[in-house]
Amino acid sequence: MAFQIPISQTQSFSTDRPPFPSLSLKHPCLQSWIPRYRERMGLEGRRRLSSPRLRTTVVVSATATEMPRKPRSGEEEKGFVDEMRAVAMKLHTRDQAKEGEKEPEGEPVARWEPTVEGYLRFLVDSKVVFDTLESIVAESACPWYAEFRNTGLERSENLARDLEWFKEQGNAIPKPSTPGVTYSQYLIKLSAKDPQAFICHFYNIYFAHTAGGRIIGKKVAEKILDGKQLEFYKWAGDLRQLLQNVREKLNKVANSWSREEKNHCLEETEKSFKYSSDILRLMLS
Ligand code: HEM
Repeated sequence: MAFQIPISQTQSFSTDRPPFPSLSLKHPCLQSWIPRYRERMGLEGRRRLSSPRLRTTVVVSATATEMPRKPRSGEEEKGFVDEMRAVAMKLHTRDQAKEGEKEPEGEPVARWEPTVEGYLRFLVDSKVVFDTLESIVAESACPWYAEFRNTGLERSENLARDLEWFKEQGNAIPKPSTPGVTYSQYLIKLSAKDPQAFICHFYNIYFAHTAGGRIIGKKVAEKILDGKQLEFYKWAGDLRQLLQNVREKLNKVANSWSREEKNHCLEETEKSFKYSSDILRLMLS
């Protein structure tokens, strides 16, 4: 497994500055990768890094591991996102997606009877969740999260425009309700203490919205909005490329995780489905 640390970070270990001034060394992100970094570099402590000879070794070694290995012919490069996707697809019901393995429960989306009031509750609670995700990556308590700023997948501003439009049409905008608020609080807690689990939610929320979320949005719009396409379902630029960029970043971040940490991330998928499904159901309330 490649261990990828940008050279700028390896250098900060070779100075007297702490590696991440804004973070406690007890932070789970640092606890997770500092010991493996030291193990890999054959280091027991920062004192040994102050030797100029060792400093050179660290930089050369980091440079070599940053070179992506070329796939051999016929060999497909599989990243951690493929593993996250495989787990997520199995959690769909058979009527939701071809790869779904769960028995259908309730009506298929095509037979949903959404109401404008319910759809507004869904949009308001979705905004609470996207606002939360976007402020977590903006603050980046964990250095990995900074990779996911300005991906182009952000939804908060688009949702704000949609809610403004509904207001202009004379609709009352409801207050956030339990499903959105509960999920948001859970994400805040996870982002501080369990980064692998947080990344699982980050992936599922953004990618689900571009897949099933869009299908649902289209069907609902046909039924209750005269087919109007909301801003929530529009992205600036080529969506496929935006998704690919985020996949690459997720793969890069997960490259430094142990197998146990990866499994822990995958195990969180079910919770992500549960919280998101509770918000989806608001459409029918
Ligand atoms: C009624 C609910 C849902 C429907 C109809 C639905 C439908 C779909 C469909 C059709 C796909 C595309 C499959 C493909 O690539 O061939 C998909 C992908 C996906 N869904 Fe869902 N889904 C639903 C709910 C959810 C939920 C609640 C989550 C998790 C929070 C989720 C997570 C994902 C993920 C991660 C992918 C993969 C996206 C990608 O690879 O780009 N879905 N879904």
